[in-house]
Formats: sequence, structure tokens, C-alpha cells
Amino acid sequence: MAYETIIVEVEDHVATIKLNRPDAMNALNSHLLGELSDALADADQNDKVRCVIITGSPKAFAAGADIKEMSEKSYVEMFLSDFFGREGNAITSTRKPIIAAVSGYALGGGCELAMMCDFIIAGDNAKFGQPEINLGVMPGLGGTQRLTRFVGKSKAMDMNLTGRFMDAEEAERAGLVSRVVPAKKLMEEARSAAEKVAEKSLISTIACKEAVNRAYETTLAEGLLYERRLFHALFATEDQKEGMAAFSEKRTAQFRDR
Ligand code: HXC
Repeated sequence: MAYETIIVEVEDHVATIKLNRPDAMNALNSHLLGELSDALADADQNDKVRCVIITGSPKAFAAGADIKEMSEKSYVEMFLSDFFGREGNAITSTRKPIIAAVSGYALGGGCELAMMCDFIIAGDNAKFGQPEINLGVMPGLGGTQRLTRFVGKSKAMDMNLTGRFMDAEEAERAGLVSRVVPAKKLMEEARSAAEKVAEKSLISTIACKEAVNRAYETTLAEGLLYERRLFHALFATEDQKEGMAAFSEKRTAQFRDR
């Protein structure tokens, strides 16, 4: 499918979605988020895709929601369109695993988009921030909620109230990103991680993603029960038999998503 603001490539079971508004630091406008939602829905439907990478350019993952698109909107327009609510839900309801590969700026909605992915691999040049406060507003796509769960209240308040940026090293220390790699090797490392995910049984990667995400929505006791029930359910799959047989036979498992 041809898109105008993103570039999608599928190779070796990994779909790479590159945000592509170079003149605007990949600012997220309605058109881009609509195309991203469609591309993720396609990835979920496409049997050739087993993991997704969302990335930007070396200079910017995304510098936030498009300020020029938003600046003249009224409260009524924002409220009635539920501005970016539908797109945010479309991204987070993607069932296949998504890795954010972040180089350069991930600010405002850009940082929030990265946090909607399942984990973040950052180049050592990455900068994360929620500078909406400088615009007379505040985060609107998870910057006060997901960031607080990632890094805790004190650092989330600091980021949100001062608008300061966090570099990659601080982001890793704070638990926002899973690993930091040299910027030049970002895509190589992200692809290698995505290919590792793509090797597994899709049934177990999707179940595992659902269980980790449940940790954000429920109590520990409920989450543990949910996890255990999914774990038990995986014993109904051929892939569980294959995975455990392959271990005993000292060979690589051949998962068939059954
Ligand atoms: C629209 C943007 C943009 C944005 C950059 N540009 N960020 N356009 N929306 N968020 C455009 C600039 O206007 C400029 O276009 C071009 O990209 C290059 O940007 P420069 O500022 O010239 O680059 P530089 O000096 O290198 O600075 C980079 C930057 C800065 C630090 C990333 O651009 C910046 O501070 N951007 C805004 C970051 C921000 O406030 N994000 C939060 C947005 S609100 P022209 O045509 O002028 O050359 C948000 C809310 C989310 O995200 C919630 C939604 C529900």
C-alpha cells in the first residue's frame, strides 16, 4: 500500500515503519497517524509479519504532534474529534509486538508514541522530552500517565513541568528504554531484536505481550492469575510441544503458529 507520510518495508518477517515528514522533524499530524494506524492494522493482518519496528530519521524519531495543525483549533474541535484518541487506541491495540527504534528527538507526542510501543531501543543520540508545557498546554497522549509508570512520579513531574529533555543514558537508567546502542548501529540492533522476536511462536509472543500489558491495568493477584491462565493455555498449542521437544532433542524449534 502506498503511503505519503510513512514508508513501510517488510523483510524477513519484520515490518519496518519509518515516519517520513523530513521537513517537519516527523511531527505527527492526523494524516501521518491515520497512515500509521492503517499500516499497523495491515501488519496485524499480514501473515508475513511477526514483529514491527517503528522508527524515524537519524535526527528525529518525532518532534511531537504537529503544532501548526493544532494551533488554531478550538476546544470544541479538539473535544468532538477526540483529537488523536482513536489513533492512539489503534496503535496500542496492535496485537503483534512493536519495537520503537529512536534516534534523535522523541518529544511530546513523539515520546508518547515511543512509549506506546512494546519496548524502546535508543541510539546514543536520542533525546526524550515532554515539552508541551512550553506551549501553554500539557501532554495529551500518555506523557503524564505512561511516563509516570515508566520512570516514577518525581522524574515524570520534572520532565512534564520543566519540559527538559532526557538523554539516552538517563532514559536507560530511568527504565524508559530497554537498551542504548551506538546511533549508527540503531537499525541493525533493532532489526536483530525484531528478528529474534519473529523467530518465536506468534501465539506465545502475542500472549506474552498481553500479559505484560495487563500489569499496567490490574492488581498483582489478578495479573498473576491472568499470566498463569495464559501459560496454561499455551499447552494447548503444537508450538509448546515443538518448543519443548526441540529443547530435549538439542535442535532449533520450528514454530508453526499452531
Ligand atoms: C510542527 C515542527 C515540530 C512540531 C519541528 N517542526 N517540530 N512542526 N510541529 N512539533 C518543524 C519546525 O517548525 C521547522 O520547520 C522544522 O521542523 C525544523 O525544526 P527546527 O525547529 O528548525 O529544528 P531545530 O532547531 O533543530 O530544533 C529541533 C526541535 C524543535 C528541538 C525538535 O523543532 C522543537 O522544539 N520542536 C517542537 C517540540 C515540541 O514542542 N513538541 C511538542 C508538541 S505538542 P520550518 O518550516 O519552520 O523550517 C505535542 C502534543 C501531543 O506533541 C498530544 C497530542 C494529543
